Amino acid sequence: MPRRPTIARSLAALERTTARLRWESGRIVLVPTMGALHAGHLDLVRLARMKARRVVVSIFVNPTQFAPHEDLASYPRTFEADLAALAALKVDLVWAPTDDIMYPPGFATRVAPEGPATVGLEDKFRPQHFGGVATVVAKLFAQVRPHLAVFGEKDYQQLKVVTRMAADLDLGVTVIGMPTVREPDGLALSSRNVYLSPQERARAPSLYRVLKDCAARIAAGQPIAATAADGAAELERIGFAVDYLAVRHAETLQPIASVADGPIRLLVAARLGQTRLIDNIGM
Ligand code: PAF
Repeated sequence: MPRRPTIARSLAALERTTARLRWESGRIVLVPTMGALHAGHLDLVRLARMKARRVVVSIFVNPTQFAPHEDLASYPRTFEADLAALAALKVDLVWAPTDDIMYPPGFATRVAPEGPATVGLEDKFRPQHFGGVATVVAKLFAQVRPHLAVFGEKDYQQLKVVTRMAADLDLGVTVIGMPTVREPDGLALSSRNVYLSPQERARAPSLYRVLKDCAARIAAGQPIAATAADGAAELERIGFAVDYLAVRHAETLQPIASVADGPIRLLVAARLGQTRLIDNIGM
């Protein structure tokens, strides 16, 4: 049976163990997660393992990135299964702070990201979200002090926000993105897929198919704005409530008018029943 990773539940235990890992290997790589690990997370860990000899995974369902009406209370929590999966991948340390350790009484500081965090995509529909993400990721970087950190491209805007923040605040961490892992039918893996009913699950892969159709049309010379509008209309016909289907510059996430202004990223967010799904592809 694989050895369980060390679990740090206090800042003192984290400091002790990361000091040892740093002394043993020189380089530490961090994979920040909210738990409920799926095959996509495990690929992040595998990539981390290829980059450094010592791997730390944080598991913390961060309350400050959820709005009051969102799914903080029902967010899946599967700590024992997560540990077993991380043990199989020989993760060295799991950092699992409580809310009180991350946000002690009197906590009063928040990172306010701009640039890719304020481009009218996720930020338009979840206005507090990236402030919460940037704050907790800055704290995780300060606590673990990794050389590298791995994030999934599935949350593409988040990847750009934390990359920008790490550079802007001189946090000494290189952020690496990992391509999205998909089910055989194309649905991007997400901890929230468990919320989908069987009927919704059957429709969900249309999100990826429509993104690919839009990319093919744009590559063939069709106008960007009309193609995005058609894609959103098709998703609505299938039963999604679309928040956005946008064609953006892949680095700045600003709107673009033509393929010549690329590289391009297509991003979508849409609700199926109670479940909000996001996805994106490059072209
Ligand atoms: O992508 C996530 O799981 C979270 O947003 C993160 C980066 C762990 C911060 O809470």
